Amino acid sequence: FAGFKSQAQTFPSNNDESKVAAYTLPDVLKMPNGKQCANSREWMQVQRPYIFHLYEENQFGRFPSKKINIRYRLLETDKNALGGTATRKQVRIFLHPADSSVYTDLLLYIPNQVKGPVPVFLGYNFSGNHTVSTDNNIILGNRWVPSRARGAVNNRATEASRGADTASWQVSTILVKGFAIATAYYGDLEPDTAAGFMMGIRSSLKDVLNIQPNEWCAMGAWAWGLSLMVDYLQQDNSIDAHKIALLGHSRLGKAALWAGAADPRFALIVSNESGEGGAAISRRWYGETLQIINAHFPHWFAAKYKTYGDNVNALPVDAHMLLSLMAPRPLYVASAVEDTWSDPKGEFLSAKEASKVYALFGKKGIDADSMPALQQQVGGTVRYHIRAGKHAVTLYDWEQYLQFASEQFR
Ligand code: GCU
Repeated sequence: FAGFKSQAQTFPSNNDESKVAAYTLPDVLKMPNGKQCANSREWMQVQRPYIFHLYEENQFGRFPSKKINIRYRLLETDKNALGGTATRKQVRIFLHPADSSVYTDLLLYIPNQVKGPVPVFLGYNFSGNHTVSTDNNIILGNRWVPSRARGAVNNRATEASRGADTASWQVSTILVKGFAIATAYYGDLEPDTAAGFMMGIRSSLKDVLNIQPNEWCAMGAWAWGLSLMVDYLQQDNSIDAHKIALLGHSRLGKAALWAGAADPRFALIVSNESGEGGAAISRRWYGETLQIINAHFPHWFAAKYKTYGDNVNALPVDAHMLLSLMAPRPLYVASAVEDTWSDPKGEFLSAKEASKVYALFGKKGIDADSMPALQQQVGGTVRYHIRAGKHAVTLYDWEQYLQFASEQFR
């Protein structure tokens, strides 16, 4: 039957561990010449660029290589924010050399009790800066937000949206530990819908960056935006730009991993339940599948990624390789036991497998053979936990990340 193509197979989600078939991961250390990568120099010079390129080709599309010069404007600041505990800054970062409608607004809280420059946790929020705190001085976003966002009317935030996501942003806990917080709304870069690229930077910056919208993807746009925030943070002398920890939850965890892969200035990376297309092994048929994610979110990844929906074993990469691109920087991968959609075990296994690359740098990754008990940190420079509860970023998670970052940045 040469030339006969069978009907495409479907891969629904699976929550039954006994149905997970055996799979073989691509060898993260197998170099293009067939030899094993033996040391950190070969990793940095040969294998890392090779794997990064495989990601550009197969999952995320091109990461813009052209540097742009950001301009920024301090919109507002208060040295006595949050009851005097923090300095608040709201900074507009302009991304286009001529069009001032292309920007992202960064909200910063800098702890007042410590002498700067201070380390910072940078991360996107899901529906606007005004959601991370009940602080009424945060400028209410006016971008498109999903209709499920609290207080959204006609896809715009309202006063009722303020403080909608304070649980995910444990602001006072972070500040007390001596870290600053920097956050922006990911929709500033591209609204998270299939047609969002027409309203986002993949369109407005295509000539500036010399890259067509279909050569990359929404994840790429979000990841690239994070890099520009580093450009800003490097110019802010209240921040220690050598200590930028990047955190992303869920879809924003996928974007954070891609940003961490593309930009070595992120000194520490946290993947909070990033799941399919992020930290979870795609070849493991559990939770969300590659086919489902592409069907539900066609704009998230590059076109080529969609060709692997019914043939995941043909994908030249898998999540352990994405995680390996963080090496030798500290990496924290976290799961939640009720978040089966993200495949906690698949996240653990990829973090463990990526540890092989950390070993090339003499760094201890995860050596535990099986998943730890709930609320139990395992690993060294690669760290992992699974906590009780649902898909979310919680106080417990933040406490672990803050402890990890304090230890690693010491
Ligand atoms: C959906 C999607 C996941 C994603 C999640 C989120 O559930 O299928 O891949 O991680 O949204 O961003 O919360």
